[in-house]
Amino acid sequence: MAKGRGTFVCQACGAVSQRWQGKCEACGEWNSISEEVAGSGIGGQAAQKARKGRVFPLEGLSGQTKSPPRITSGIEELDRVTGGGFVPGSVILLGGEPGIGKSTLLIQACATLARQGHRVCYISGEEAVAQVRLRAERLGLADAPVELAAETSVEDIVATLQQGRAPALVIIDSIQTMWTDQVESTPGTVTQVRGAAQALIRYAKTTNAAVILVGHVTKDGQIAGPRVVEHMVDAVVSFEGEGGHHFRILRSVKNRFGPTDEIGVFEMTGQGLSEVTNPSALFLAGRDSSAPGAAVFAGIEGTRPVLVEVQALVAPTSLGTPRRAVVGWDPARLSMVIAVLEAHGGLRLGQHDVYLSVAGGLRVSEPAADLAAAAALVSSLTGAVLPSDTVYFGEVALSGAVRPVVHSALRIKEAAKLGFAKAIAPPAQQGEVPALPTQTHQHISALVAEIAALGAQNRKAAGRDR
Ligand code: TYD
Ligand code: MG
Repeated sequence: MAKGRGTFVCQACGAVSQRWQGKCEACGEWNSISEEVAGSGIGGQAAQKARKGRVFPLEGLSGQTKSPPRITSGIEELDRVTGGGFVPGSVILLGGEPGIGKSTLLIQACATLARQGHRVCYISGEEAVAQVRLRAERLGLADAPVELAAETSVEDIVATLQQGRAPALVIIDSIQTMWTDQVESTPGTVTQVRGAAQALIRYAKTTNAAVILVGHVTKDGQIAGPRVVEHMVDAVVSFEGEGGHHFRILRSVKNRFGPTDEIGVFEMTGQGLSEVTNPSALFLAGRDSSAPGAAVFAGIEGTRPVLVEVQALVAPTSLGTPRRAVVGWDPARLSMVIAVLEAHGGLRLGQHDVYLSVAGGLRVSEPAADLAAAAALVSSLTGAVLPSDTVYFGEVALSGAVRPVVHSALRIKEAAKLGFAKAIAPPAQQGEVPALPTQTHQHISALVAEIAALGAQNRKAAGRDR
């Protein structure tokens, strides 16, 4: 190889450097850098040949553009996340931890599409055809005319798919197992993943087939190899679930053809994944409303309101540095809410361990959860049981002010639908009439005072009973 032609690519993070190093300076990984030959693969030698540019017309922003046609899978929770169905010629990266249920979801989607008469191909690089068949049989999908293969060579796959009618949907399970002749590298390396993805993306664009690339992510949420293809694909969808819970959440992270932050909720059952059309009811099922430390948060996921219970446990610590642990919420936001409660609510939490958990395995990322978290914390600290028919939402500022959040009418409407009687929330936008009696707190100190009064009432009632 001629000197200076190769570049060195970190196989862990995809960083490019001009010389070989033992340790990647970008991600700190050792022994992860390998050489990639310039000129191999797409955009290589052929593209580098100087060529006189062709002149093309430039167009304005307004003009006639049809919205893209869609192939709906009929699985509503999946269609919502893709923005109304798969767009022909688009490529979706579906990421998720191994064993979360990606292959199960996709074989189910394939079967429903195939039954509608679409040509659907499922290429597995991980499992033998017999294994895929066995799963389909167990799910009662064996009669669907899905075309299966166990293959890993991208060139062979593309050649095969080009035979006959163009497929409507192609599943590649998974991108880490694919390899292309175009680059010299072992399968699973960043170079191969990128090369294989490029070839498959080109296939999708030229044939108008929708392609789904499955990518495994590691425990810490990194799509290790597939991270590098995120920018090349049209949509990135992640499939998540907490260990020990049966719920699975499909979340759109990037979508060139639809909204992001939309979620689809599924439940893993013995018969595969079943749709959960009313997630709030599911997340609130089995809640114990007689214990302190629990507040119901009226949240929004994408366009859909979702009610979940935020649980807190505040207990005196035996350690020098009190413990703070969070499940399903941002630890930095918990620290902030604790700081605000101490500075503006008069609480002392420095000698207490604090645990906060979002029930049901949902991950909440909205700042609107601040008020519910604060209510749960104060409730646990004071022992006051919060009323079980009340929902909480609102963003808490560092000054202690409770700030308005988006979609408050929608949140309250969902709460009313599920039988709640009251909302504690920031002031609604002008002109909005909430569906429930709403109490507004301007400042976090009002919330603290109210819950403390509730605690005193609780104690008085308990004293009378005795
Ligand atoms: P799978 O789809 O193979 O996961 P991935 O492709 O993301 O690695 O799902 C594997 C898990 O799902 C496995 O632990 C068993 C469970 N499962 C069920 O509980 N019910 C079912 O009907 C199926 C097919 C799988
Ligand atoms: Mg799989």
